[in-house]
Amino acid sequence: QELKLSLEQIEKGGYEHFMLKEIFEQPKSIHDTMRGRLLVDEGVIKMAGIWDHVERFKNANRIIIIACGTSWHAGLIGEYLIEEYARIPVEVEYASEFRYRNPIITDKDVVIAISQSGETADTMAALKLAKEKGAFIYGICNVVDSSIARITDAGSYTHAGPEIGVASTKAFTAQLTILTLIAFKLGKHNGTLGNAEFMSLIAELDAIPKRVEEVLGTTHELVQNIAKDFVNATNFLYLGRGYNYPAALEGALKLKEISYIHAEGYPAAEMKHGPIALIDENMPIVIIAPKKGHYDKIVSNVQEIKARKGKVIAVVNKGDQQVSSMADYVIEIPETSECFSPIVASVPLQLLAYYIAVYRGANVDQPRNLAKSVTVE
Ligand code: AGP
Repeated sequence: QELKLSLEQIEKGGYEHFMLKEIFEQPKSIHDTMRGRLLVDEGVIKMAGIWDHVERFKNANRIIIIACGTSWHAGLIGEYLIEEYARIPVEVEYASEFRYRNPIITDKDVVIAISQSGETADTMAALKLAKEKGAFIYGICNVVDSSIARITDAGSYTHAGPEIGVASTKAFTAQLTILTLIAFKLGKHNGTLGNAEFMSLIAELDAIPKRVEEVLGTTHELVQNIAKDFVNATNFLYLGRGYNYPAALEGALKLKEISYIHAEGYPAAEMKHGPIALIDENMPIVIIAPKKGHYDKIVSNVQEIKARKGKVIAVVNKGDQQVSSMADYVIEIPETSECFSPIVASVPLQLLAYYIAVYRGANVDQPRNLAKSVTVE
């Protein structure tokens, strides 16, 4: 039989879309992000960009993270990570707001820009402004030698490999991996993360690619089936708490951009301040509810949703009982320390958005009105 494979098909490596290929590449891309940096046996995280300027970070008045879209979501998780482990105050801003609001920046601030493409116009302009005001500017980019990578004082590449699908997947989990490494490294240096905890966290981080592999294996078919039931949904809510609040925002963004279904992410506790009014039997609600991370509070949120007949798709840890017994659909992920749960929980949410979009016949890799890098305002 004649071999008829176009270049693009070859590039897709047997997957129907780049997005699916990139979702499945995550065990490898996360591993690549850590390669040469995480030396578990030696108990060391090697990151020249951080180490060469470690006092600048340690003595910073605050760290300001600027980014857009998915990279901004990674930044929010970065805030939780850096504040928890390195105890340095962190603020996270949309680059587009930061650049136009005359922010107070001094030479005691460290500004971290996160950008997959390294070409996002708003992020670039915000960085230039911070640089002019004397801040130390650090880049977390995926594309090597991109504009942002070139203007920063120092930085770390994510090394996730080329991301072609407009919806960011593996770049996001690579950004989280870098931010985790930075938080642990600074925490160890600052003495805010004790050695025993550091050693146990880095051992766990080293195994995250395996956890992600596991999740892909156990949830792929299940999520594909769940997606079939939501092809005609018109709205979705995504809820999470703590580290998984930004993961909820990211899950909602994925669904919006490729399936064109309206979706909103919320911190679960904010539900009662407004969105609860939307809940009825037609409202699907994705709730991220791992054991570590305000589980009891999430249980009450699910009770409130079920009392209003909302349809609950719960992302829980293996063996979960309480949330699972109330949920309409259950997606199990392995238990991890709370700080790693957004990486693991994001995978089934990426798959959910992907399959809902595919069943709706949407152009998953190139959704309408969107560009891979937004180089205009
Ligand atoms: C992600 O799925 C989006 N396509 C978009 O939000 C993106 O993350 C944003 O435009 C920022 O891009 P960057 O990371 O290349 O700067």
